[in-house]
Amino acid sequence: ATERTLSIIKPDATRRNLTGKIVARFEEAGLRVVASRRIQLSEAQAKAFYAVHAERPFYNDLVKFMISGPVVVQVLEGENAVAKNREVMGATNPANAAAGTIRKDFAESIEANSVHGSDSAENAANEIKFFFSDLEIVG
Ligand code: CMP
Repeated sequence: ATERTLSIIKPDATRRNLTGKIVARFEEAGLRVVASRRIQLSEAQAKAFYAVHAERPFYNDLVKFMISGPVVVQVLEGENAVAKNREVMGATNPANAAAGTIRKDFAESIEANSVHGSDSAENAANEIKFFFSDLEIVG
């Protein structure tokens, strides 16, 4: 079925001018950018977005990293978009990521891993709402 997912190009990637290369990977996989914005997250926004990880030992560093530079938030649309996006990203830890994935090719570490993608259709709906209104998504 056609789905939407929320993608974030993280500060390590925007810093290295990799936005276009990363978007091309998604497009080549059949995903379509139906909303896109480059933003500087506030600390409050980063904390709220990653609230599910609040009790994890890496939470504070993750929040600091996510506000260390601009990010590009996007809605990607396509057949099985959630799973397809995760396939193209590769494993969270670049050391475990398959050849040809974004994280294998671009990520610096498990934290500075270049991209975020929603992990379920339900979380995708919530994460999309976190950043975009319906009017900003043009399919
Ligand atoms: P992301 O998919 O955005 O979801 C949570 C983020 O926390 C993850 O990618 C990593 O950038 C970061 N992170 C840092 N350390 C860890 C860890 N040990 N396990 C999982 N995620 C981590």
